[in-house]
Amino acid sequence: MKQNVIIDCDPGIDDSLALMMALSSKDIEVIGITIVCGNSPVEMGFANAKKILKHMNRLDIPVYLGADKPLKKEYVNALDTHGADGLGESFLEEVSGYEQPMQAVEFLSDVLRKKACTVIAIGPLTNLAHLIAYDEEAFHRIEKLISMGGNYRSHGNCSPVAEYNYWEDPEAASMVYAQMEKSGKKLYMVGLDVTRQIVLRPDLLSYMERLEPLQGAFIRRITKFYYDFHWEQERLIGCVINDPLAVAYALDPQICSGCEAYVQIETDGLCRGQSVVDAHGFCKKEANAYVLTEVDVKKFFSMFFALVLHKSASELIALENIW
Ligand code: RIB
Ligand code: CA
Repeated sequence: MKQNVIIDCDPGIDDSLALMMALSSKDIEVIGITIVCGNSPVEMGFANAKKILKHMNRLDIPVYLGADKPLKKEYVNALDTHGADGLGESFLEEVSGYEQPMQAVEFLSDVLRKKACTVIAIGPLTNLAHLIAYDEEAFHRIEKLISMGGNYRSHGNCSPVAEYNYWEDPEAASMVYAQMEKSGKKLYMVGLDVTRQIVLRPDLLSYMERLEPLQGAFIRRITKFYYDFHWEQERLIGCVINDPLAVAYALDPQICSGCEAYVQIETDGLCRGQSVVDAHGFCKKEANAYVLTEVDVKKFFSMFFALVLHKSASELIALENIW
């Protein structure tokens, strides 16, 4: 059975790699893509999603414009990380078309009332917060909510304690986690504790180019800026590709492990956006999240390469040598 998936994203370089991965899987039916302001302003994210869909020859998939600003905080983009075009300054050709029959929140409300879907949220949670206000019942019909965001024991990436998606719109993240507590369900938090371990190293990128020159060159084109950013900011040789792990987790939950916990998002002050993970029951609240803490990195890259390069496991045997 294919898994119906809606991807809420802010493309964004790693969002784009996540889209490529999801679109390559025979086990995922991408029902639609909703765009939220985050890495890129929402119109830019919309344009970038279309560029990726065109590259993947999947312009059949609908894309919907969502929130152009956070619920309360001033909008702060991450173009310093993702480049002036939000796609690593690859400046891919613009893709026309895609009239807007409805806003993202209307699409989410409509589809979630009709189909059992997994929502993979890999940007700030503003669209999902709007959905709660617009159609709370539809939000509760989300079969599985996977959010790339937050951090438990790992340090922040845009403040000492906060990860960007939750820092960007902490009120939205707080609202979503509170709604999960109300529903008695758990959000799957794919945070920096696991995504920081997913580093697309130069040798892995070279390996991709060897196996599939065109796709490898495309990925190099959109990640070069991101490599430079990681070297300048963290003296890291490689780039952390956060978002694809959320897709991998939707495909195979065994790829990660973690703990159930009550999570609350701080909305203001120095700790704005911090995902406070109460793994020891101090708050005496039921768990509203499953917080991922371990990941099988090699298994991730095997899955990533197999999907994005369309290779069988036997064709990836060379991966054994470079691991
Ligand atoms: O903190 C990393 C997350 O913020 C990723 O989803 C990245 O694309 C940005 O949205
Ligand atoms: Ca993202």
